[in-house]
Amino acid sequence: MPDFPSKSIAVVLGTRPEIIKLSEIIKLLGDAAWVIHTGQHYDAKLSGSFFTELGLPEPDVFLSVGGSSRGVQIGDATMRLDGLFADHRPDAVVVQGDTNAVLAGSLAANAREVTLVHIEAGLRSHDRAMPEEHNRVVADHLSDICCAPTQTNVDNLEAEGITGDRVVLTGNTIVEAVHGLLPSASARIALCAEHGVEPGEFVLSTFHRPENVDNPATYRAILEQLAALGVPVVLPLHPRSVKRAEQHGLGGLLSQLKVVEPIGYRDFLGLEAESALLISDSGGVQEEASIVKRPLIVVRNSTERPEVIGTFAERVLPGEDIGTSARAILDDLEAIHERLGNMDSPYGDGTASQQSINAIAQR
Ligand code: UD1
Ligand code: UDP
Repeated sequence: MPDFPSKSIAVVLGTRPEIIKLSEIIKLLGDAAWVIHTGQHYDAKLSGSFFTELGLPEPDVFLSVGGSSRGVQIGDATMRLDGLFADHRPDAVVVQGDTNAVLAGSLAANAREVTLVHIEAGLRSHDRAMPEEHNRVVADHLSDICCAPTQTNVDNLEAEGITGDRVVLTGNTIVEAVHGLLPSASARIALCAEHGVEPGEFVLSTFHRPENVDNPATYRAILEQLAALGVPVVLPLHPRSVKRAEQHGLGGLLSQLKVVEPIGYRDFLGLEAESALLISDSGGVQEEASIVKRPLIVVRNSTERPEVIGTFAERVLPGEDIGTSARAILDDLEAIHERLGNMDSPYGDGTASQQSINAIAQR
């Protein structure tokens, strides 16, 4: 481990997936990590419980910008980070992914001329309707070190002129997060019983993207397809999706599914590994499918993770294609599970966190 001074590397994060994917980096940095939580996610089930479960110390600073509009979140967090960096100048700022917290951390580092490190750089959906696409493009262009999970991501950066020693191919830090918490086979059996499902005989699903839950007809179409599958569907609902379901009057459809609150990471991974099939619009779940070796239907207009399409995942639009694809997979489940079980994940060997830290040390 390089010898960084105490609290010299600011790690800015704001949401559930950032906590997960930065957990190993924070642990490896130890006393050098200065963890700043923008507060974008503030519910215990999306934030605090993940710090505990992943064995992380409490954030050093919590900025409480959550629940506001995108512009206010980015503006407020940037302003407060600027004040923090003025009082205590870090040697580097680390951000991960494509959320509003990432954009704020990137702008604040750039404004104070602090080395910016972007973990999970170079992903592109080329879908300008997604706020995340704008966040990640800006973060990559401001970054001094882009830690790219795959060669596809390196190529995306090169196509935009981001090359040379600004780019490091690391793999994705999710690999070490999964390996750290995936429960044992026997614990997974108990977990299934807790959720009232049989191992290998249920679908695990998540939805939270505006493109799927903000429009009532789209959200209804997704839930109708899930309810018609004929197998139990466990659906841990993100707070955004809970609110939209209430607004759109979709309670009747939800009652046909096994709706639960957001699940802790260990249990979520356990359920993923024991599921027959995953159906989701999540970014992280696309990567995890390739690690727990389960088939995934990605319900999205686009994806920034083409590496798993055609192997672990297929992408469909909301509507009847969900049911058609799911039934085809469920009808051939044993062979598909066996085929995927023998396939490598494209996201690396579980050393992305260490490689990212090494890249910072070499600056
Ligand atoms: C954000 C990210 C998205 C990421 C997701 C991970 C952006 C633009 N979006 O989406 O890329 O995939 O996090 O889950 O950064 N809410 C709560 N409690 C919370 C957090 C949110 O109730 O702890 C509700 C609030 O009503 C809030 C809404 O969810 O307005 C949306 O939250 P926000 O953080 O803006 O976006 P997400 O949909 O969570
Ligand atoms: N996840 C979890 N509990 C849940 C749902 C998801 O622990 O109830 C984890 C999941 O394993 C993945 C991450 O949360 O690692 C993905 O978060 P989300 O889908 O909110 O964000 P995205 O990855 O789409 O940005």
